[in-house]
Amino acid sequence: MSHYWSAVVHGLTPYVPGEQPKLANLVKLNTNENPYGPSPKVLEAVRAEAADTLRLYPDPNSDRLRAGVARYHGVAADQVFVGNGSDEVLAHAFVALLKHDKPILFPDITYSFYPVYCGLYEIAHRGIPLTDSFEIRVDDYLVPNGGVIFPNPNAPTGRLLALGEVERLLAGTPDSVVVIDEAYIDFGGESAMGLVARYPQLLVVRTLSKSHALAGLRVGYAIGQPHLIEALNRVKDSFNSYPLDRFAQAGALASMEDHTYFEEICAKVARTRTRLVADMEALGFEVLPSGANFILARHPAHEGAELAARLRERSIIVRHFRKPARIEPFLRITIGTDAQCDTLVEALKALC
Ligand SMILES: Cc1ncc(COP(=O)(O)O)c(C=O)c1O
Repeated sequence: MSHYWSAVVHGLTPYVPGEQPKLANLVKLNTNENPYGPSPKVLEAVRAEAADTLRLYPDPNSDRLRAGVARYHGVAADQVFVGNGSDEVLAHAFVALLKHDKPILFPDITYSFYPVYCGLYEIAHRGIPLTDSFEIRVDDYLVPNGGVIFPNPNAPTGRLLALGEVERLLAGTPDSVVVIDEAYIDFGGESAMGLVARYPQLLVVRTLSKSHALAGLRVGYAIGQPHLIEALNRVKDSFNSYPLDRFAQAGALASMEDHTYFEEICAKVARTRTRLVADMEALGFEVLPSGANFILARHPAHEGAELAARLRERSIIVRHFRKPARIEPFLRITIGTDAQCDTLVEALKALC
């Protein structure tokens, strides 16, 4: 605390990212990174950018990258907004599209950055309880609101909302912006991207951090009708005109163009998820159905915090959340390689 701080800073409760331990030889299953490397074409493209041109600012509008994203999704380039990680895209969406008089709605158990943005931008919000089985119930959102946002699949539950339900929400809330955060959709869910043409209030947000194995490059994007994208651009150009550096623009474009590569690694992760779920259920774990590259699981006889600590002693890092209380008994485990998941299962066999 300091009297030099702006008033809003005193009230902030910042987001706490998952640990990036400095130790080597860990089985790191705590931050939903991809266990496989990015496409070799990404590395080539990034290396090619290490040149004299670094003295020049990058393209402020990332035109080539936006054209590549547009091509991949079959939309126009003016329907694409790119940012420094989807966190930045989301932050701009909160200011540009979700700050109104009525409170915005999101699940009570969801990506914990959403309430942080609400605090920073002073946006009223209301957490809508998930059902007993941790599902989003669309009817609960069909009430007057300042906007709706949730991840699909949800995080940290991994539970998917069927596309038909997403459309029912859109049809029932024509006056509010609906942001679907599809950070994990490439691991097996049905995307809302195809609904963008029909619903002027829909913004779909994606990241290259998970499915493209590019968390270190920091690239995310949003797709919506041009009037929504214009609002995001107005905020971006009032904040930082050059959010994506030359490496990020070149690497992300190469990754979008090599889509067979990232689609294959996603399929591999999904196969390992099926195996891991079966192995953990055999050990007595309850595992929520997951459409993501992580699972949320609890053991009836062991505390989540205790298990996380015991795994850590064995150099296996998973994520445990103390809050909200309903997920306190659970562990959130990122799907690693088959070998990493086997190491985890062997450790759990010894602990449970
Ligand atoms: C639901 C969700 N949305 C967005 C993000 C942010 O991803 P990034 O900023 O790496 O693109 C995350 C990261 O964990 C997430 O879980």
